[in-house]
Amino acid sequence: MRQQWLMGNWKMNGSCASIEALLTGLLQHMPLSLKASVVVFPPFVYLPLVRDRLQGSAIGWGAQATYPADRGAYTGAVSSEMLHEFGCQFVLVGHSERRRLFQESEALIAEQLQHVKSHGMRPVLCIGETLAERTEGLTESVLKQQLLSAVQYDVRALQEVIVAYEPVWAIGTGQAATPAQVQETHAFIRRVVAAENPQIAEAMSIVYGGSVTADNAKELFALSEVDGGLVGGASLEAAQFVRMMECINSY
Ligand code: PGA
Repeated sequence: MRQQWLMGNWKMNGSCASIEALLTGLLQHMPLSLKASVVVFPPFVYLPLVRDRLQGSAIGWGAQATYPADRGAYTGAVSSEMLHEFGCQFVLVGHSERRRLFQESEALIAEQLQHVKSHGMRPVLCIGETLAERTEGLTESVLKQQLLSAVQYDVRALQEVIVAYEPVWAIGTGQAATPAQVQETHAFIRRVVAAENPQIAEAMSIVYGGSVTADNAKELFALSEVDGGLVGGASLEAAQFVRMMECINSY
């Protein structure tokens, strides 16, 4: 049985007050035991607050981005060393919003992945095709390229990496991929890795992201190829996120 995950990507949302309320809601209402490892990804500035509230709880935390240098003249950037100091155990790498809005290249993403691992944290590598790429039948080649370039074409480096399949057209649109699309695509990702290293493919968690809600989670998380979810918008509501924890618990 592969490890199951429920991850909340808060993106650039929240305030001290709203995050306090969200964490209080989660801690008060979450199930006593969890089948999935639950992780939240707050904006950088709220990491100390999240750490103080979640320390000692069953919920872990991570960061949404990193810059692959330890320190120096990189205005506006935050390093993995700094994130580790604030108790982050996970870092999102290659999110499509970072690729698109911040022009993060495949080379930079590969450096970030390595940097995160070298600081003892686990990268959550996000890959996904655009609608145009899917329509043109390029989904598989795009995903294979994003996956392999991030590990510099050595799948052994996928050890400790959690892969998140996030079709760009499903993110924040309210239109999640269908269970059939998700199952088929996750199986393809696993086959790509298995072709090089069956053991790593077998153990690797692949989570789905893109308009996951408490309502569609049941169907998506039940799929044999799906090892949980990376949830954006719906992770900002304690009640919905708790329902997703219960949903994974029910399998
Ligand atoms: P969404 O975002 O759930 O709001 O679609 C998912 C993500 O970008 O990780």
